[in-house]
Amino acid sequence: MNALSYPAPALVSGAATASAAAPHRPLLDVSGVTLQYKTRDHLVTACYRVDFQLFQAERFVLLGPSGCGKSSLLKAVGGFLEPVEGAIRLNGQPVARPGPDRMMVFQEFDQLPPWKTVKQNVMFPLLASGKAGRREAEEKALAAIAKVNLSKFAESYPHTLSGGMKQRVAIARAMAMEPDILLMDEPFAALDALTRRKMQEELLQLWDDVRFSMLFVTHSIEEALVVGSRILVLSPHPGQVKAEVNCHEFDLSSTGSRAFQAAAQRIHAMLFADGVEPPSAPPGRIGA
Ligand SMILES: Nc1ncnc2c1ncn2[C@@H]1O[C@H](COP(=O)(O)OP(=O)(O)OP(=O)(O)O)[C@@H](O)[C@H]1O
Ligand SMILES: [Mg+2]
Repeated sequence: MNALSYPAPALVSGAATASAAAPHRPLLDVSGVTLQYKTRDHLVTACYRVDFQLFQAERFVLLGPSGCGKSSLLKAVGGFLEPVEGAIRLNGQPVARPGPDRMMVFQEFDQLPPWKTVKQNVMFPLLASGKAGRREAEEKALAAIAKVNLSKFAESYPHTLSGGMKQRVAIARAMAMEPDILLMDEPFAALDALTRRKMQEELLQLWDDVRFSMLFVTHSIEEALVVGSRILVLSPHPGQVKAEVNCHEFDLSSTGSRAFQAAAQRIHAMLFADGVEPPSAPPGRIGA
């Protein structure tokens, strides 16, 4: 299994420069963020005064029950949803709109335009954002496709690939952009258990190679412990921070261990406990 060290230096170019300038500054700072949707009849509060900080090369997980605002938080970090309260800063700058410094991978298998080959799909954001010319985009795309073990399928169309392979393409497409932060919304939730496990393993291997920074959403406690280095546990709707859990010592080889089971049980108890701590109290911390 991977030797996952922590913390780790970044190899993602833009972010690495920023962190060299301010080593203690968080890459992403989410401070007192409340998110709401206005529908015709209702005002829905998706999450309430959420605080967290993500540092360079962290694998930070948002964990919570359905409807607690995980996807909404990811959308807000992506610049697609403006907080009604609080602030989101990336490299010290307020997030105001979507940008190539934040790339998103979704749960759905149909996030790839079907008329483009795998290579064309991966090249597309590089070309559309002006980040690379055609030759450089092709080089970067082929390198990213190789990293997710799909070189043989570079000229294939998405409909000829399995769900897991399509998710690998979506990850390659995001990675090729060398974003400051990779945003992943339950990317493996629709996969069968074996493929999901394999994808988790590959993601950790990729992280071991590249040391990217990742904000990963899941409602699986086990996936959060395996994939994450730190977990933010959210309460049911509207999501409030319940606790922050350090879990960088766990990987796929530790799922059977006593420490892993104990951590999973503690998170489970937290998720199903009533209420949240008063807003003035600091989030509880468990784990290493
Ligand atoms: N476009 C929207 N318009 C109105 N309400 C919305 C919209 N999107 C989400 N919501 C509401 O905001 C709350 C949080 O939704 P969100 O999708 O962020 O939850 P989630 O934690 O990602 O859930 P899941 O685990 O089911 O994906 C829910 O009550 C949901 O109904
Ligand atoms: Mg969601």
